[in-house]
Amino acid sequence: HLMDHLLGLQQMEARLATKLDIARCLIVAGDSDSQPQVVNDMGNIVSATLQTLLPEGENIIAVMGGTTMAAIAKRLNPAISVNRELTFVPARGGIGERIDIQANNVSAQMAENAGGHHRVLYVPEQVSESTYQSLLKEPAVQAVVSLIKQSNAVIHSIGGAMSMAERREMAPEVVKMLQDKRAVSEAFGYFFDEDGQIVYKIPRIGLQLEDLADMDCVLAVAGGASKAKAIAAYMKHAPRQTYLVTDQGAAQQILNE
Ligand code: BG6
Repeated sequence: HLMDHLLGLQQMEARLATKLDIARCLIVAGDSDSQPQVVNDMGNIVSATLQTLLPEGENIIAVMGGTTMAAIAKRLNPAISVNRELTFVPARGGIGERIDIQANNVSAQMAENAGGHHRVLYVPEQVSESTYQSLLKEPAVQAVVSLIKQSNAVIHSIGGAMSMAERREMAPEVVKMLQDKRAVSEAFGYFFDEDGQIVYKIPRIGLQLEDLADMDCVLAVAGGASKAKAIAAYMKHAPRQTYLVTDQGAAQQILNE
């Protein structure tokens, strides 16, 4: 039974990677919508995948925030840093998350568990445009931004457009615009419609989507059937070398659509 199940998942991984047109999909059993512990299994897969994908020597790993990323961080394993020098940095500054799931926290926790360093990007989540502009001139901020620009790996999640807009308490007129433009997906503070077109971008420093193109390792982690549409839409935009770590709930739903 177990073998059949594993074989089934493997076939599903191949079908999903073909459908999404990305390098690889890795699927864990279950659905994280109803089984919160499933995200731990995804974390173990992320840890193992980093061990295979990251080149030896120096690595700068840019990470996003979110509840998935925060849970994944807990599962990273010191084996990742064998023969590697790891520096974790938040991928983009202040896109509006609560403190415990901010990218700064995720990157600190990942560094601790994987064995590596981390750098903090001192840009608050909610600041006025003018404050933001002057913060960007700070040397401490610029130093981390330059590390982000040198990153060779990225780990991020994907969310539903409307749930992300709500969680980040985005302005009503922006929410309205996202609805008008039929945004269904969000990743890196960019919003996408069903065809994977960018319909809005939170203007923040750090990683820009085009920076992903030449990275060694692009790892997306998102699960739960409720995220199926968001995952499929973002993957129309994602670079080809993307690995997706997901669960059966999301995978089944994407394959059915
Ligand atoms: C955010 C990322 O932190 O997490 C987003 O910046 C992503 O790009 C989102 O969409 C997903 O959040 P969660 O809580 O569903 O893992």
